[in-house]
Amino acid sequence: MKEILVSLKNSPYSIFLNAPLQRLGGFMRKVGFRRGISPTKALIVTHPFLKGRYGTILQKSLSSAEIQTSFALVPPGEKHKNLKTVQTLYERCLESKLDRSSCILTFGGGVIGDTAGFVAATYLRGISLIHVPTTLLAMVDSSIGGKVGVDLPGSKNSVGSFYQPKLVWTDPQTLETLPDREFRNGLAEIIKYGVIKDAHLFQILEKCVPNIKSQLNAVIAICAQIKARVVTQDEKETHGVREILNFGHTIGHAIETATGYSDYKHGEAIAMGMCAAGEIACDLNLWKRSDQSRLKNIILRSGLPIRLRKTIPSRKLLSLLYRDKKSVSGQIRFVLPTRIGHVQLRTISASSALKGIRSIQP
Ligand code: NAD
Ligand code: GLY
Repeated sequence: MKEILVSLKNSPYSIFLNAPLQRLGGFMRKVGFRRGISPTKALIVTHPFLKGRYGTILQKSLSSAEIQTSFALVPPGEKHKNLKTVQTLYERCLESKLDRSSCILTFGGGVIGDTAGFVAATYLRGISLIHVPTTLLAMVDSSIGGKVGVDLPGSKNSVGSFYQPKLVWTDPQTLETLPDREFRNGLAEIIKYGVIKDAHLFQILEKCVPNIKSQLNAVIAICAQIKARVVTQDEKETHGVREILNFGHTIGHAIETATGYSDYKHGEAIAMGMCAAGEIACDLNLWKRSDQSRLKNIILRSGLPIRLRKTIPSRKLLSLLYRDKKSVSGQIRFVLPTRIGHVQLRTISASSALKGIRSIQP
């Protein structure tokens, strides 16, 4: 097992990588109390398939630590990351008689982590949260850093909070059942880390994608380390540091919202968002055409899209950019690449944004 510390002043916690599900209960019993992880009850929030495949292992592991478990099941898909699911989960918390010594354990990808994380942040004004990510995307990104929340019909991730987990427990064995399209989805966030922070990671990807499996544990560790470091420097996105993690997300989120959270996976939308941001940066002479080609190539080789399948009116996407959380006083703020491993935060004009959007139309 490898441990990465997210050394936040008020809420430090560890990410354990290569951490078998079977050992989670034992870990909580042995060192949990010292680390503030000693729940008497856990509500495991997951999808039906994951409960069927891994539920017994997880339940056994927690019972060995004398933690009572119950399950709350959420149907899969981004369209369930909403306030209706939050309401249903609050009701499960009540039925399971969770109190302030209980925890919510999320077992799934970013949708489960974000939604049930928001429930943990708000139920009884906050109970302990443990993330056990089961998608590549959640292992490298969404389980780390404490962003929890849900979508509104017209705006992605618009209701939420910062609420750090007590522990992140990552077992890469669970990826064995992850469908290929979901695996590729996770590659988009890994490419993002290469562009924003780590030219060496980008080169590793250029060498091995799509056959990344032999390097997977190393790559997950690099990404988790980058995210832990960025979040430690700027937990609540107030110092202009954490925003770099949103590279590709401004247009990506607009695509997800415009298509009703159902046509594209998050990583697919982010892949197109990164291409569009690169195009804007080229147009502003911040980013070389040759780097834009490298970015598009690695996206394509990862089996991710560089263009929309169906046109979404450019003006519609533009209007959604103004709802982005980075947008301030009606100005569009963008994370733009300047060289592989480095990005800048910039305010851009609507006509620049439109050029980016048009570059990803079919
Ligand atoms: P997801 O949570 O929808 O999971 C993808 C699919 O994979 C689901 O259908 C799920 O049932 C299935 N699945 C999960 N694990 C599996 C396994 N081991 N075996 C078989 N099937 C499995 O998608 P995601 O890509 O993990 O997460 C996307 C979400 O994460 C988006 O809502 C995005 O906004 C959010 N996100 C949040 C943060 C953050 O910092 N909080 C960061 C990045 C993304
Ligand atoms: N995924 C963006 C962040 O965690 O800040």
